[in-house]
Amino acid sequence: MASTVVSLSSIVLLCTITAVQGRKTLHHLNNEWLTSYSVINDIDGICKTMVETQGYTCEEHQVTTEDGYILSLQRIPVGRSSNNTDKPPVLLQHGIFCDALTWLVNSPDESLGFILADNGYDVWLANTRGTKYSNRHISLDPDDMAYWDWSWDELASYDLPAFVQYVYNHTGQRIHYAGHSLGTLMALASFCQGQVVNMLRSAALLSPIAHMNQITSLLTKIAADAFLANDIYWLGLREFVPNGDVAAKFAKDLCHILNFDCSNLMSLFAGPNCCINSSTIDVFLDHEPPPTATKNLVHLSQMIRTGTIAQYDYGNQEQNMQHYGQPLPPLYDMTGILNEFPLFISYGGQDTLSDVKDVQVLLNDLKDHDWNKLVVLLNEDYAHVDFVMGVNANQMIYDPMMDFFKVN
Ligand SMILES: *[C@@H]1O[C@H](CO)[C@@H](O)[C@H](O)[C@H]1NC(C)=O
Ligand SMILES: *[C@@H]1O[C@H](CO)[C@@H](O)[C@H](O)[C@H]1NC(C)=O
Ligand SMILES: *[C@@H]1O[C@H](CO)[C@@H](O)[C@H](O)[C@H]1NC(C)=O
Repeated sequence: MASTVVSLSSIVLLCTITAVQGRKTLHHLNNEWLTSYSVINDIDGICKTMVETQGYTCEEHQVTTEDGYILSLQRIPVGRSSNNTDKPPVLLQHGIFCDALTWLVNSPDESLGFILADNGYDVWLANTRGTKYSNRHISLDPDDMAYWDWSWDELASYDLPAFVQYVYNHTGQRIHYAGHSLGTLMALASFCQGQVVNMLRSAALLSPIAHMNQITSLLTKIAADAFLANDIYWLGLREFVPNGDVAAKFAKDLCHILNFDCSNLMSLFAGPNCCINSSTIDVFLDHEPPPTATKNLVHLSQMIRTGTIAQYDYGNQEQNMQHYGQPLPPLYDMTGILNEFPLFISYGGQDTLSDVKDVQVLLNDLKDHDWNKLVVLLNEDYAHVDFVMGVNANQMIYDPMMDFFKVN
């Protein structure tokens, strides 16, 4: 499977990489990695295959963004025991190379999607553009280059507002938000421009991605450099399929050049996850990792190089002028986030992508935030993927997160 692939992905998140770790027998990047696993059930979708099978009610929804992408959401309106009438909605936003499955792969007692439903929340799971269940557009087809002409700028300015507005319209209530990895960057970028916060009660950011130039994953840094050095080539591909040939070759070349043992790519890219059950990885392996736009990866690589949080850099003044009316891409200013907006930020001491130093830069950006509206939780043992797939994340992260939701 692809997994390997993923690697490249390197740049960020790694749902997929997780998968790699699970296949301990694979010590080489070979064709086996390229075999697509059959998808759980392509036609039936996430509700039928991942939620109803656990005995929960589930609804499929869709919303169209202002730029025409047709996105899916799943809703778990009731839990197994809770049947309170006043259910606060909560929207869960996955990271790159992931989709709503992120929140459902462990047992119901361990997976955030189910835990929130069982604790009386009205749970909504988002799937961003380009992922398997959000791959339609009003006029474009995923085979069109133009379909893939986006980076996380568009996830922040179109996808997130569409999800939030839809849930807000549907429930008539302000929403709690929880994002992982790229799902935190989307939120921060949106919040600092004053978008969507009026429809939210609070936000929980797990493994926050904001500043990225101090990441401690050497392999990720090198992958980002390699990516930028050839951005013209990569951009010509537009769609980055984590289990495609090109991705696998890229990962293979990197490992070869660096003479790294790439049998545990997840640790090399995302840090050593302490607490992931290998059976979780099997569930994940049943599902093909969703692709992303190569422009999105180039954008993230730019952040790793510069440490700034800025819009996509077209690489020359004329094109930036054309898009932004200024020679350099506009910055996202984190100090623009409303000081009284309730934020819960949780990060891991072993996370090499959302690394401690970069998170501290973000926290410094937020130093004027109302002290009683900012909860910061460091888990020394956690790496990137533990936050969404760790078997003890319920106690370590989700319980304190729900305590925070309750008072906000
Ligand atoms: C929850 O309560 C409502 C009305 O009080 C009832 O109609 C519904 O069947 C209950 N659902 C569950 C899962 O118990
Ligand atoms: C939300 O409701 C407003 C007002 O009725 C409507 O204009 C808008 O299109 C709706 N948006 C979504 C995403 O449902
Ligand atoms: C790991 O997964 C297996 C299979 O689902 C389960 O039986 C076991 O209890 C899990 N371990 C933990 C610590 O959750």
